[in-house]
Parts: sequence; C-alpha cells; structure tokens
Amino acid sequence: MEAPSPTPSAPSAPSTPFSTVIRTASHQQHTEAENSSFMSDLLGGRLGVPAYRRYTEQLWFVYRALEGASAALAQDPVAGPFIRPELARTAELERDLTHLGGSSWRDGLEPLAATAAYADRITTCARDWPAGYVAHHYTRYLGDLSGGQIIRGTAEKTWGFARKGDGVRFYVFEGIGNPSAFKREYRELLDALPVDDLEKQRVVDECKRAFALNSAVFQELGEQFPLSA
Ligand code: HEM
Repeated sequence: MEAPSPTPSAPSAPSTPFSTVIRTASHQQHTEAENSSFMSDLLGGRLGVPAYRRYTEQLWFVYRALEGASAALAQDPVAGPFIRPELARTAELERDLTHLGGSSWRDGLEPLAATAAYADRITTCARDWPAGYVAHHYTRYLGDLSGGQIIRGTAEKTWGFARKGDGVRFYVFEGIGNPSAFKREYRELLDALPVDDLEKQRVVDECKRAFALNSAVFQELGEQFPLSA
C-alpha cells in the first residue's frame, strides 16, 4: 500500500501574543483575588482604616523587594526594559504610611508571614531568575495601573482621603499621563520578551504563583480583620 504523501506544512498560525497568554492564564486567580473576603470587605466599606493601613504596610514590604532589585536589574536584557522609574511606588507608600501611622509608622513593623514569603520569592527571582522577576513585576504594576484605580476611588470615598492625596498616593502614578498607552507599551514589552516558549511557560507559572502569594496575604489579613457578624 502506498504511503500517504506527507502533508505540506501549513503556514504557521500566528501565535497568541504573550501578553494575552499571561492575562488569560491568570484570569481565574485574578477573580479569586478580587473576591477574597478581605478585599470584598475592604472595598465594600465594611472594614476600617486600621485594616487599610495593615494592607498598605504589606504592600510596602512587597514593593521594597520589587524595587530594591531595580538598580541591579536595570541593564538585564530580560527584566531591564520593564524597569521604569515612573512605576516606582516605595516613596508613595511611605508617604501614605506616614499619613496613616504618623512619622513612626516603621517602628517595630514586621511583615505578616505570607508577606515575608511573598517578598522573599520576589527577591529570589530578582537575584537568580530575571524572567521570573518579570512575572512578579507584571502581576503588581499592571494590576496597580488597572484595578488599583478602583481601589483608590473606594478608599477615598470610604475613609475620606483627599482625592489622589495622602493615604492613596500608592495608586497615583504622577509620571504616567496616559495609563492606557503605558499599558499598551508594557504589553508590547511582554510580547517581545526575549526568551523561548518553554521559558515563557515558566513565566506564566510564576505569575500564577505571584497571584497565589497575593491571595495568601489576603487570607492572613482576613484572619486579622474578621468581620464581626
Ligand atoms: C478588588 C481588587 C481588584 C480589582 C477591583 C481589580 C480590577 C481589575 C480590572 C478592572 C482590570 C482590567 C483593566 C484592563 O482591562 O485594563 C485588572 C487588571 C489586572 N489586575 Fe486586577 N483587580 C483587583 C485585584 C488584583 C490583584 C490582587 C492583583 C494581583 C496582585 C491584580 C492584578 C491585575 C493584573 C496583572 C491586571 C492586568 C491584566 C492584563 O491586562 O494583563 N488585580 N484588575
């Protein structure tokens, strides 16, 4: 019997942009994070300023880890292009925390266990695996530029912070005039990530891990601030 003739190779289908792959892959966890009881209670106006302050303190540990690595990664071929001074949040968090806790806000401040684990993972990636660091960078900054704006509006309304003022400066990107354009450029950087497909899959996995680490922080915060029934 005659062997079937080999099928002529089909023109390769345009592959899905990596920015779409990573967004789609983390979609479900995004919904879970959004709907975590701590976030729902916080944004539903059922928790007070102390819970918002405790949450902001956790963010400070996370952004110190992210941004403490910026200088070392600035020239890295994979992570370097993502590092943009207008994203930096540590100084804004410190202003917010001064507003929330006074000038001694840092005295005796310790991260929750889940926050320490999250910050450690970021630091490890920053040191050993720049593409993994990109997964963490994406998970935080693109989120802050998106849903962060919803959180800001709710915080202003619920606790009376001045619009875009102290208390919510973390959510205000003074150096980014057009967030939509910025996000578009950011996605182009993701699409051009100079790594092979296997490594991209690992980055997606790390992004899922980043979401899980965020959810663990929400879980622990939820235990600290249970709603009185
Ligand atoms: C209640 C809390 C949250 C709300 C209301 C929220 C809301 C949103 C919204 C509306 C977008 C879409 C914006 C757009 O299409 O341009 C978005 C995107 C995003 N959010 Fe959230 N979010 C929340 C929590 C989180 C958390 C905890 C994380 C992770 C730490 C996160 C990470 C992201 C990321 C990475 C994106 C960008 C997705 C992409 O376009 O690639 N979000 N968020």
